[in-house]
Amino acid sequence: MEVVILAAGQGKRMRSDLPKVLQPLAGRPLLAHVLASVRSIKPARICVVVGHGGEMVRARVDAPDLVWAEQKPQLGTGHAVLQALPHLSGNARVLVLYGDVPLIGAQTLSHLMEAAGQDRLALLTVELADPTGYGRILRDGAGRVTRIVEEKDATHDERHVREVNTGILVAPAGKLRDWLGRVGNHNAQGEYYLTDVIGLAASDGVEIVTVRPGEVSETLGVNSKAQLASLERVYQAAVARGLLEAGVTLIDPARLDVRGELLCGRDVEIDINCVFEGRVELGDGVVVGAHCVLRDVRLGKGTRVAPFSHLEGAQTGEACAIGPFARFRPGTVLANDVHVGNFVEIKNSHLAEDAKAGHLAYIGDADVGARVNIGAGTITCNYDGANKHRTVIGDDAFIGSDTQLVAPVRVGQGATVGAGTTLTSDAPAEQLTVSRAKQKSYPNWKRPVKKNS
Ligand code: UD1
Ligand code: CA
Repeated sequence: MEVVILAAGQGKRMRSDLPKVLQPLAGRPLLAHVLASVRSIKPARICVVVGHGGEMVRARVDAPDLVWAEQKPQLGTGHAVLQALPHLSGNARVLVLYGDVPLIGAQTLSHLMEAAGQDRLALLTVELADPTGYGRILRDGAGRVTRIVEEKDATHDERHVREVNTGILVAPAGKLRDWLGRVGNHNAQGEYYLTDVIGLAASDGVEIVTVRPGEVSETLGVNSKAQLASLERVYQAAVARGLLEAGVTLIDPARLDVRGELLCGRDVEIDINCVFEGRVELGDGVVVGAHCVLRDVRLGKGTRVAPFSHLEGAQTGEACAIGPFARFRPGTVLANDVHVGNFVEIKNSHLAEDAKAGHLAYIGDADVGARVNIGAGTITCNYDGANKHRTVIGDDAFIGSDTQLVAPVRVGQGATVGAGTTLTSDAPAEQLTVSRAKQKSYPNWKRPVKKNS
């Protein structure tokens, strides 16, 4: 089995500079979804036909298992397949897919291939309540497929047919080459239609079989932003169903977006409007509050994230308490029982067990020891304008509020840094270090009063 994916079209109706097949569905290009399904059936070869924005498409999804064919100018779907054929072996069975039909499932493809056998032509068709815009499947009195007619070329009666062409088919390469060589462009769009191959196959006496997809949504194409948005909801609904079946509590399955991979342990609870990107792993009993965005994150057992937190490239131990309004940037690593409260930003830092940063702090390029308390308004000044430097805080240290730790700097074990300190050299273990102008009071001072004019 060898595969051709048509991805040369412009996608005019998207009104976008981004080629249609790169438009994102669940955070990944439409074409990437098609490729994922195709790869799971392990074809001998995958040829992608590109034209409009071809360089961009290739740069975005290229991989060693892909062969690229160029179609310039774009003279229709039949012409597109013809550009791919020289890249395929002459005796292959060819599966044709569209780059703008992203939800096609591996199981449906397997059924189609089985139905095709070695020498039949297999078509994936579907019955739609509203077939507008699709090619219609025409059959003879005995129910045999005779040809496909495009909507724009169809007669009034033909338009009443509700069985439509999904565009997805399997045919032997040799015959496909022969038929495509005979297809003309005398039709409403002046294009070489792949669909005209069906009529030729029928008159050659080749057996044509039709197969239905597992779900109608597998065959829905994306031609406009409205269709893209509605397929996004179809995709997300399926993800949510899978999570519910796996025992995850979703407060509202309609208000969840997974743009990558979300792996959950037992008794995970996710409140409304959370977005998961990249690979996210939530351990047993993790609770994610409303309106959180998590990207490439791993949360240990029993960790709770309060609402409006934004976590990226982070990893926590067990039973941590995070947020509300916490921000983790890449390289944030928390051990067990760490507490990070509101408006705390952490980057490229390690916080050991039981460390606490309750409010309003920036911790960047730091190693924070066990049981350290970081007061409100504490900032690691990790950047000198040219280079980044580390801050190291020993176990059991106490950092008073509004402290600036000018890195590179070390705070010893059990040290206390007084509030308002600007620490420019190391603070010794177990001592109080404070840098602060002495407090003074002026007993005879009078507040100015407004003059009468
Ligand atoms: C096509 C089918 C139609 C079917 C529908 C299903 C034809 C003639 N019509 O119509 O029967 O019901 O899909 O979604 O095949 N493409 C190229 N090169 C071209 C033209 C198109 O690579 O010269 C690619 C497009 O990028 C797209 C796919 O082929 O991925 C389908 O093209 P599109 O113009 O969207 O075809 P439809 O009008 O939807
Ligand atoms: Ca289309």
